Amino acid sequence: MASAPVLEHDVSLRPYNTFGLEVKARLFARFSSVDELRALLALPEVQQSEKLVLGGGSNLLFTKDFEGVVLKNEIRGLEIISQDDASALVRAGAGESWHGLVQYALDQELSGIENLSLIPGTVGAAPLQNIGAYGAELKDTFEQLEALETATGELRTFSAAECGFGYRESVFKGALKNQFIVTGVLLRLHRQARPNVRYGDIQTTLQDMGVAGEPTPRNISEAVSSIRRSKLPDPAQIGNAGSFFKNPEISQARFDELKSQYPALPGYPVPGGVKVPAAWLIEQCGWKGLRRGPHGVHDRQALVLVNHGGAQGQDIRDLAYEIIASVREKFGVELHPEVNIM
Ligand code: EPU
Repeated sequence: MASAPVLEHDVSLRPYNTFGLEVKARLFARFSSVDELRALLALPEVQQSEKLVLGGGSNLLFTKDFEGVVLKNEIRGLEIISQDDASALVRAGAGESWHGLVQYALDQELSGIENLSLIPGTVGAAPLQNIGAYGAELKDTFEQLEALETATGELRTFSAAECGFGYRESVFKGALKNQFIVTGVLLRLHRQARPNVRYGDIQTTLQDMGVAGEPTPRNISEAVSSIRRSKLPDPAQIGNAGSFFKNPEISQARFDELKSQYPALPGYPVPGGVKVPAAWLIEQCGWKGLRRGPHGVHDRQALVLVNHGGAQGQDIRDLAYEIIASVREKFGVELHPEVNIM
């Protein structure tokens, strides 16, 4: 039996968003099972309200109080549901922390998500934006997810193809936005380590760590964690939501044009064009390390906007729009936010 749902009023969301912004939710409830979620969705107050499902709150910028109902996903559980010589199928509850799942995989000697170490947020949020870092993406190991349809209370599964994964994209940010609540994720992880050290910094960090020969998944996890700690602010210390913008993709012709003007411009070929680092463009516009009172741009990664304490969400949003305008003016390239601005 699910316990009776508890709806709280006027709850501070400060502990539930990694920007550390002081905003309130008119209504707030937690659920730790599918039954509890269904019971919540059946409440008239919930049915009549705009719903926001929160995992770790690590990809959100609140610019005002949320007038609807925040549903905090606390569905737990980590287990191997089947395995053979080559792989194991791991199921994780959507409310588990993503890094907790990475550690579980390492403890089980499974490989495939070690490059995604230390990404803030929950398992359930990971597929929404197909999290990626250091040469790996969620979709590389993703098998399927389970999600509850808000309108009907029906559970259904989505294969990788049905999720429509792209760069920081899925069908849940597009055509099916706000229609499903992810309750569990299944990943296919490898029994044999498959070290992925394509990202240059991993190799140099492994060398610095004194790892010779083939690195273990744990070595890679430690290397990635060390790189992240050196470049990205820890949300427990400085409020932030990781990369605020996506890396833009431009046409090869446009890239060649820019490259002749800015020979140092980095670029990575992608189908249909070239992906350029937004951080480079932003840094060239002089924003890196900028501080305007309590908010600003991180001094070691220009893609990350920060709240040093006491910032307002609107000020961070306004800064983001100023950055977008300056990059447009200098380079003719359009940046798009990666975080969800509420
Ligand atoms: N760069 C700068 N200035 C900076 C930072 C970077 O010029 O301040 C340039 C450098 O040329 C560098 C290049 O940007 O070589 C790439 O930088 P980095 O490897 O730090 O990665 P990124 O493209 O800035 C992306 C992801 C990160 C992920 C890293 C590592 C996006 C939007 N961001 O950043 O993801 O950790 O690669 O794989 O794709 C996140 O999504 O929240 C996130 C942190």
